Amino acid sequence: MKKIIFLTVLIFSINNFAQNKISTMKILPYPQNMKVEKGFLKIDEGFTAQINFNKNTKLIKAANRFLMELEKRTGIFLEYPLVNEFPDSVKPAMVIDVKRIGKVKLNENESYSLTITNEKVLLKAETDIGAIRGLATLIQLLQVNEQSYCFPNIEINDSPRFPWRGLMIDVCRHFMPINVIKRNLDGMTAAKMNVFHWHLSEDQGFRIECKTFPKLHELGSRGDYYTQEQVKDIINYAADRGIRVIPEFDIPGHATSWLVAYPELASAPGPYEVDKYYGIKNPTINPTIEKTYEFFDKFFAEMSKLFPDEYIHIGGDENNGKQWNANPEIQKFMKSNNIKDNHELQAYFNRRILGILTKYNKKMIGWDEILHKDIPNNIVIQSWRGKKALVKAAKNGYQGILSNGYYIDLMQPTEYHYLNDPVIENANLTKEEEKRILGGEATMWTEWVTQENMDSRIWPRTAAIAERLWSPANVKDVDDMFSRLDKFSLLLEDYGLTHISYQEKMLRRLVNGRNTQPLKTLVDVVEPLQEYKRAGDARKNGKEFSQFTPFTRVVDAANVDSKIVLTFNKLVDKYVLDKDPNTLKSIKNYLSIWAENHNKLLPIIKKSPILLEVEPLSKDLSTLAELSLKGLSGNVIKSNDEKYLIELEQIANKSKNSYGQVELVVVDAIEKLFGISENK
Ligand code: ACM
Repeated sequence: MKKIIFLTVLIFSINNFAQNKISTMKILPYPQNMKVEKGFLKIDEGFTAQINFNKNTKLIKAANRFLMELEKRTGIFLEYPLVNEFPDSVKPAMVIDVKRIGKVKLNENESYSLTITNEKVLLKAETDIGAIRGLATLIQLLQVNEQSYCFPNIEINDSPRFPWRGLMIDVCRHFMPINVIKRNLDGMTAAKMNVFHWHLSEDQGFRIECKTFPKLHELGSRGDYYTQEQVKDIINYAADRGIRVIPEFDIPGHATSWLVAYPELASAPGPYEVDKYYGIKNPTINPTIEKTYEFFDKFFAEMSKLFPDEYIHIGGDENNGKQWNANPEIQKFMKSNNIKDNHELQAYFNRRILGILTKYNKKMIGWDEILHKDIPNNIVIQSWRGKKALVKAAKNGYQGILSNGYYIDLMQPTEYHYLNDPVIENANLTKEEEKRILGGEATMWTEWVTQENMDSRIWPRTAAIAERLWSPANVKDVDDMFSRLDKFSLLLEDYGLTHISYQEKMLRRLVNGRNTQPLKTLVDVVEPLQEYKRAGDARKNGKEFSQFTPFTRVVDAANVDSKIVLTFNKLVDKYVLDKDPNTLKSIKNYLSIWAENHNKLLPIIKKSPILLEVEPLSKDLSTLAELSLKGLSGNVIKSNDEKYLIELEQIANKSKNSYGQVELVVVDAIEKLFGISENK
């Protein structure tokens, strides 16, 4: 270990993010407390790591992964690339000091402190899980200084704001193989997330082997399901990273796949088929027959053993009640038991299921529809329809997590998710009620994605959500977040995620060759329609999405918040403020590229019918860019030529039409540049 000699130890930056606004280190999620000092610890072949806790296999594994990551990023051949495996005569460069093995469980201690001097790294934590969180920070501190790799001298004290920081993946609408799940668990580890919510049953598939009722996976999955060995592998993989795995078995609605195998549990006569289309379906479990509870008793007995987490998710969302309304036996049952409506009947069902889960030492979590005064308040409410449910839950003594505003499948901007805080402003919660808000979960519904592009819908936006759930509430400078997210996004790819690299592969297929640049230029300035508009737009054109439609079109290659769009918008914002000619020059560069692009893309479109749907969009982009350039002569904007501005406004409006479920997202900035919206 060579030492870097420095003369003064000067604290040049301070921890208080709120005061500074701008982070001093590109770390995400941003730590609670950080002091950067002058000086560096140089990394060379002699770098060694020691853990004071030999028994602790999950930390040893994590630290060994860290050392491999260090080698990978630096190219340094470490003399002792394994933790604790070096001679006594060597002084360790990094010491990890933990007090105990943490439980992979809600509310476990995940705090850590990291002290780096020019001599050594000291990572201290109450639990090994805290130390794993610290390693996720440390790898992000790796820097280059005077041609060598190093860690800055620093003091970090960090702990999460919320104990529940999750990602839900729906593996039913589109099945996701084990390797896809594992790489996303790696992404979660990097972002310090700690709950993997595995949505395992739906109208479109039953995705887990059930030994007690094998017809469930045999008839309900079209062959795509996880064996129990694979499930254990995922649980262990997650536990090694301090991540809980919560299975969701969605009942009584969204239940078609169960009823394919066991139609006798349905509220209307079968037979049933696994549904390939999406939406709210009628097949619903019958809550009024004892057979249902005998079935779920055995089912949850098996699943409670398989999944070690204390929580099981029972879904509970979007039961339309149609089968219940139409079944005279169910209506009779409701009358004789004084059950006044379907919500109350579902509460009856949930109470019975809660009894079963309790018998197997499990706690219940469900979507906000399960909130009902007849259900005891030891359940957790996952709020998806609005934040009101979370507030209501907290006020009524229930714990809850937020997912409303974290629906990453809906292609909304990173900023929107980032500023969505689980603690709702003006909700007037007492401190005690506020503590019942445990955190949140990003939800990756997979109606419109496949394993090829799912990562791109999850990352990097989910990392912004991870920061919301980990970092202090006052860490909310959007520009600063983006500057850190950009670096973090590359780290995620390095960990095996494909949210960047998937695109080039899709583009090559779309252009049927290697000349992807003209299409890339277009894709960089479009975004998929947000929220549920995508399905509505397709439907208008006579197309209904299903599990078996292609998700390989331009809309599937396009993403939210492309770097080009963010950069262009910033340039326009800056120019509008300061009229800097250099900024205008950069703006014109972009416009020139776009103006020329249609001529380059057209011959490719002519040979790739799959691209025909975006031809008008490509034309609109070039027309708008060309006309914009005409209005930018020299260093000034032609802002007083009324005839010109009217024409530009018309073209801009036309350019707002979507094609192939994508829309141009630089039109607003162009309007802003010319002050068009202000003229209206
Ligand atoms: C849901 O999005 N139906 C929970």
